[in-house]
Amino acid sequence: MNIIHISAECYPIAKVGGLADVVGSLPKYQSELGENSIVIMPFYDNAFTKNNTFETHYASVLNLGRDYHFKVLSLKDNTLGYDLFFIDIPELLFKDYVYSEDDTERFLAFQIAALNWVLQLKKENTVVHCHDHHTGLIPFMMSHCYTYEALKATPSILTIHNAQYQGWFSHDKVHLIPKFDLSNIGLLDWDNVINPLAAAIKCSWRVTTVSPSYMEELKEKANGLERLLQHESAKCVGILNGIDTDVWNAETDGFIIKNYSQKTILSGKKANKAWLCKEFNLDSKRPLFAFIGRLVGEKGAGLFPEIFDKALSADKISLLLLGSGHESIQDSLQALKPKHKGVYNTFIGYDEKLSHIIYAGADFLLMPSRVEPCGLNQMYSLRYGTIPVVSSVGGLKDTVIDIKNDGFGIRHDQVKIEDVAEAIKRATNLYSDDSRFKKIRKQIMSIDHSWNASAKAYIDLYNSLT
Ligand code: ADP
Ligand code: GLC
Repeated sequence: MNIIHISAECYPIAKVGGLADVVGSLPKYQSELGENSIVIMPFYDNAFTKNNTFETHYASVLNLGRDYHFKVLSLKDNTLGYDLFFIDIPELLFKDYVYSEDDTERFLAFQIAALNWVLQLKKENTVVHCHDHHTGLIPFMMSHCYTYEALKATPSILTIHNAQYQGWFSHDKVHLIPKFDLSNIGLLDWDNVINPLAAAIKCSWRVTTVSPSYMEELKEKANGLERLLQHESAKCVGILNGIDTDVWNAETDGFIIKNYSQKTILSGKKANKAWLCKEFNLDSKRPLFAFIGRLVGEKGAGLFPEIFDKALSADKISLLLLGSGHESIQDSLQALKPKHKGVYNTFIGYDEKLSHIIYAGADFLLMPSRVEPCGLNQMYSLRYGTIPVVSSVGGLKDTVIDIKNDGFGIRHDQVKIEDVAEAIKRATNLYSDDSRFKKIRKQIMSIDHSWNASAKAYIDLYNSLT
């Protein structure tokens, strides 16, 4: 089967969050299962495109109010485990960012160019797998735009990684979409605007979300799309994300300070923690709590300054945060530093290497998310023997079992200051129970969150459609 993933992000080429990790690893596992799984993504101006070589596969022109020349490039000397193709539209996509204010035109052009190329591939037994709203108009275009008539019988699948963002744009821009029978315009609309995510939910053959619990939650809370998801529920299913266990492997990870296995976890984690504590001036005798991620409301970040202040005042812990997002949150987090000198620090920004060292060196990973469609951080932390302290939402609920229930993590029901503080206290108590703490962190390293099961679940889903 030919599986065509179309996405704005793909690790290691361009990553903003977990979408990149998923699109960068699922195709590899699908290829290992014998399928021809490929990725199409934009050609950005970044370190990866500067440092690699590419060859041209196809060149053409697309219309988006005016003509734009575009090329389809492929990565030469590719060792990723799947074929990777880029849509190169120099004027629109070759930028040093992934998302910005001009996304409507940029991603519309990307989708049109990608489909123009798919159209001329003329491959049998193909499925088109779209990820999030940036590729949400593709299922509509495949089934309703005259140009893509030949793709009508090709199944399209949408995976919702995050329903908060829907790609809304005004009806004034509808003429940018290739021609279609205007009686179908309702398929593009939700609440009087063009809504690419809603259009994809309506037009794709199947809709998946990245965990079973998130699928259920969306029917109640989906930033305005609840009714639509309830209505389309027969074609919706939650499939839990996996992780790339080759990239996320403490035994071979080239980013971390000292590699380790389950057998050498004691010395391995100790060395990574020691490096972090030295680098960030933290007390290494205390349990080290960490947060890695986007500083936005969904991650509970609005409460961090208060939660951290409370926990650092009440408990003997060290705390390190790696992330960026809302400036006011960043400022409040920085402002806490003098008060908790020697036990608290932050790195405001994005740093892939540091994130790996933190997964390896921390004792506990905090994820008090309000919304977490899947969450990959908790799975990375488990694999590196770092105990997750998480809220009971979405994918966190599906991957972390509380120690109260014979599990291996700590969960809190509400994202409230008191509840998170209580969870941190429970984690500190666990840390004091040295033998239990060490037993759990060793045990969690062998929990299997690789893609093996979920890559197969996606293939079964495609097979049910072709
Ligand atoms: P989301 O996609 O909602 O941001 P996920 O848990 O699915 O959340 O994935 C986040 C991914 O981004 C993980 O690979 C995490 O390690 C990484 N990440 C997030 N923030 C940073 C950062 N500031 N520096 C390095 N990596 C980060
Ligand atoms: C989104 C979600 C996150 C999920 C990721 C990959 O960014 O916020 O929970 O893990 O996509 O599917």
